Amino acid sequence: MKLLKHIANLGYGSRKQVAWLFREGRITDAAGEVLYADDTPTHDEIRVDSEPLDPAPGILVMLHKPLDVTCSKKDRGRVVFDLLPPRFRLRDPVLSTVGRLDRDTSGLLLLTDDGLLLHRIISPKSKLPKVYLATLAQDLRGDEVANFANGGLMLESEKTPLLPAELEVLGPREARLTLHEGRYHQVRRMFAAVGNHVDALHRERIGGLDLGDLVEGQWRMLGEAEREGLFGS
Ligand code: URA
Repeated sequence: MKLLKHIANLGYGSRKQVAWLFREGRITDAAGEVLYADDTPTHDEIRVDSEPLDPAPGILVMLHKPLDVTCSKKDRGRVVFDLLPPRFRLRDPVLSTVGRLDRDTSGLLLLTDDGLLLHRIISPKSKLPKVYLATLAQDLRGDEVANFANGGLMLESEKTPLLPAELEVLGPREARLTLHEGRYHQVRRMFAAVGNHVDALHRERIGGLDLGDLVEGQWRMLGEAEREGLFGS
């Protein structure tokens, strides 16, 4: 790919704007030598205003999503993209959330611009475990573990029953739920189906990945090993 298009696709501006960056000598190599649009440096050699370029396409980002932030690109309120560098919103291929978390759910959210990877993570075939911590409005009745595990639970307006899910009771109103699929508002709807209500919901883990020491609102780029670790649990 041509250098100008490569840089523009990373969100540094329109092609016209990036052409200006070249003209102003702001695009250089690591040694500070000015680059021209027909040069062919490797990605890692390129600097814009002396800073290394943002990562090349094929990124996987882990974000600790806070409450009151939505997973959409555009929303009247705060969106997850507001927590990332502004250029990330302008990348081509686009950076998308891997599934969604509700506005009132916190926790581990992945974003990627790699369509195949996204598909692999969300595909029901992958059965990647997603682990949620739920705080409930009412005491658990006692039949929920069996109910969620039997693979027969039907949610309202769904045509197929849910896959078996594991519920670990942590307290009268506290439970950890592991799902192997991702239906719309699934956790909240599952607890509604057993006569309860989720007061607070937090996603702790997807596959082999957890949030580690990422605090709310923080994000980091995941490397190759972590990407594979996702499927290795
Ligand atoms: N299930 C829900 O109900 N909400 C989420 O955000 C994720 C899973």
